Amino acid sequence: MALVCVSDYEKKAAEILPKSPWDYYRSGSGDQITLKLNESAFNRLRIRPRVLIDVSRRDTRCNVLGFDLDCPVAIAPTAMQKMAHAEGELATAKAAGTINTIYTMSTLSTSSIEEVGEAAPDTNKFYQLYIYKDRELTKNLVRRAEKAGFKALVLTVDAPVFGPRRCDIRNKFELPQHLRLANFTDEKLIVQSAGGSGINEYVASQFDPTLNWNDVEWLVRFTKLPVILKGIITHEDARLALQTGCKGIIVSNHGARQLDTVPATIEALPEIVKAIGSQMTVMVDGGIRTGTDIFKALALGAKAVFVGRPVLYGLAVDGQNGVESVLKILQNELDSAMALAGVNKITEINDKFIAHESTFCLSKL
Ligand SMILES: Cc1cc2nc3c(=O)[nH]c(=O)nc-3n(C[C@H](O)[C@H](O)[C@H](O)COP(=O)(O)O)c2cc1C
Repeated sequence: MALVCVSDYEKKAAEILPKSPWDYYRSGSGDQITLKLNESAFNRLRIRPRVLIDVSRRDTRCNVLGFDLDCPVAIAPTAMQKMAHAEGELATAKAAGTINTIYTMSTLSTSSIEEVGEAAPDTNKFYQLYIYKDRELTKNLVRRAEKAGFKALVLTVDAPVFGPRRCDIRNKFELPQHLRLANFTDEKLIVQSAGGSGINEYVASQFDPTLNWNDVEWLVRFTKLPVILKGIITHEDARLALQTGCKGIIVSNHGARQLDTVPATIEALPEIVKAIGSQMTVMVDGGIRTGTDIFKALALGAKAVFVGRPVLYGLAVDGQNGVESVLKILQNELDSAMALAGVNKITEINDKFIAHESTFCLSKL
């Protein structure tokens, strides 16, 4: 059967992948309330289309943080991509280049910074940073990313520890024997279960839980690259982000893998756009699976969206081709939504196109 939408790729990936990697990619934390919410919250928003508008000059191109992209859909950092496909991060980074979007590489990758730099020299590459207790090691990661041609740092700020992902605990998740976290040579820095989830145990022993706003300011001073904060979901934190010198934020709840029962990111977006949207680039990730989801996020003020799991599904199904296909599907669906809503340019999409379902209260009729 032809795969024509992201959920087709999701079903196919579920058939292909072994249980433990599939569970790791797919699941969220706790009761997975926010995991469901990230997707379902989009369905409570309705698009209000305009008609009789000449939409023959449609264009999904845009400029995000100074980068000219073919479409405002970028690749979120996801860890350990070689569990999905033998070429892992290299395939994803190359696909982003072909599609002309942004590829964000996770610190917890199964290919090294240098390998990705060499495999995809022309891709707009961002490097996602976790701050380790070992600050020298952290500084070294930053310098390596700068040297390998990465163009921005994405500092993840919602992970002092990892959220309780029950599937990983039950599976005693660990990296398959033939894979390793490729940015590290230290024997201690491996993902092996000591009884629970190997990745949570790794994070508990290695990441710095003292991370705070002073560290963000330190990073902004330390690196030559623009810094983007990922994992903000309140206007209070968005306002603090403004004072740090960072260049943008990604409204994210880590794909519902950290604190369960936080809002869906599409619910959190409006308060953040209202607070800082005129002063800083606000982007969003979480639960985006269709062109209409992208349209809604842009309408509520995001300058771009990032996708995590959809890319992993494409990668699992058909490597680089699969990632390209998923991104093309999303681009085509966005184009179609624009045509049918009466829009030619990304910058024309605004909140006048959106209504909440409560506006249409049928019970009052
Ligand atoms: C399997 C998996 C691994 C992830 N690994 C990372 C990571 O290493 N660093 C990070 O900042 N976020 C990570 N994330 C979160 C994503 O960057 C992103 O916020 C999330 O996937 C977006 O939601 P979506 O999957 O619904 O598109 C991961 C998410 C998933 C699903």
